[in-house]
Amino acid sequence: FDTTNREAYRPVYHHTPLWGWMNDPNGMFYKDGVWNLYYQFNPYGSIWGNMTWGHATSRDLVHWQYEGTPIEPDDLGTIFSGSAIVDSSNTAGFGKNAIVAMYTSAAESQTQSLAYSNDGGKTFTKYSGNPTLTAKEPDFRDPKMIWNEATKEWNLVMATGQKMNFYSSKDLKNWKYESSFGEGYGCHKGVWECPDLMQMSNGKWVLICNINPGGPYGGSATQYFVGQWDGHQFTCESKPEVTKWMDYGKDHYATVTFSNAPDGRHVALPWMSNWQYAAVVPTLQYRSGNGIPRDLGIFTDEGEEYLSVKPSPEIMKAFNKKASSLGDACMIEVSGLRRNATIELSNGKGERVVMRYDAAEKSFSVDRMKSGKTDFSEVFPAVTSAPTHGKASRVLIFIDKCSVEVFDGDGKFALTNLVFPTKPYDKLSVKGGKAKIWKLK
Ligand code: FRU
Repeated sequence: FDTTNREAYRPVYHHTPLWGWMNDPNGMFYKDGVWNLYYQFNPYGSIWGNMTWGHATSRDLVHWQYEGTPIEPDDLGTIFSGSAIVDSSNTAGFGKNAIVAMYTSAAESQTQSLAYSNDGGKTFTKYSGNPTLTAKEPDFRDPKMIWNEATKEWNLVMATGQKMNFYSSKDLKNWKYESSFGEGYGCHKGVWECPDLMQMSNGKWVLICNINPGGPYGGSATQYFVGQWDGHQFTCESKPEVTKWMDYGKDHYATVTFSNAPDGRHVALPWMSNWQYAAVVPTLQYRSGNGIPRDLGIFTDEGEEYLSVKPSPEIMKAFNKKASSLGDACMIEVSGLRRNATIELSNGKGERVVMRYDAAEKSFSVDRMKSGKTDFSEVFPAVTSAPTHGKASRVLIFIDKCSVEVFDGDGKFALTNLVFPTKPYDKLSVKGGKAKIWKLK
């Protein structure tokens, strides 16, 4: 494919489809040094439709190679979101080390189907017994499979209306309903979608629940619950009214993690947009990329446990050269943050992004009200703000053509936001902190 980059806003170190429309990351897994990313793809236009799984691979989480459309619509429907696992001991009978994907077949109803790959994820064969799981609920989708080492079974989480349904299986084909979670817990201002379930290094389990709409600044966002999972039931350890967000920006959605990641890591990848305006953002050849991959961990603040979110080490490694000025693809490290620090990016055309640390309020905000092109959607101009969970002393700010992603140096908060400046920001002004600019290797 000739994908000569004709897009001023196409990121340099973020994954984007070469053309067409992309939403959720799907079926992500790691094997033999390769990160496999599938995604909700419309190969025929840059708005949502004809849902197909696109495929891209990477060895360093920075450079991505397009690999085609291995799962395409069929008689059961279009191909909605789902997950994939490496079946190393051939529990499903599709072959040793088969990659088994489960996705939602979307037609009049939403059912779940399997497909398997015996060439490491390049091509897939659909299972002849599809669909493998059906339900009466209209919103029943986005299957996430995980291996449960304690029960030696597969577990499955399904977004089901405004709750999550859990299942177990020995062979990935026959699923036993175990329980549901969600009623009364967390945010219910939208449909629950794209779940994930993982055990953290301290033994606790985290249930990820993307929700749309209902996000803290409108539209799409990612909430999560911390507690216990015993292979049968999820128990949230927070009070029902507590809502925890993985990211406080407006462009962090459908975030799930890679299966089989090395060293027990939890590497998450967001879709960097928002259903409020994803179809009208000012790009032409393609629409929407992913945020940078981020490693999840856990920390405690005032008796509550939260996810820590840090740029993945692969991304940090790509920024090992200091720069003397800003570029449209760079990373800014600001340390020694003082109480009312402000960090401003601007371009001499009155377009700017203003970040503020408010120590008294324990908040860090990103203001994109006047960041450039904003008039394509009424709800695009926004100030988003994250709780800092104590003192913030250092932030990492990743800029890549049309995005500004802010991470606390200790991973205690993150804000992922799109921006569309008509000219790259070339001026950085920092009050109350010391900035270093890093450029890509
Ligand atoms: C989330 C979502 C999923 C669905 C997919 C369809 O963004 O609505 O629930 O599977 O997108 O493209």
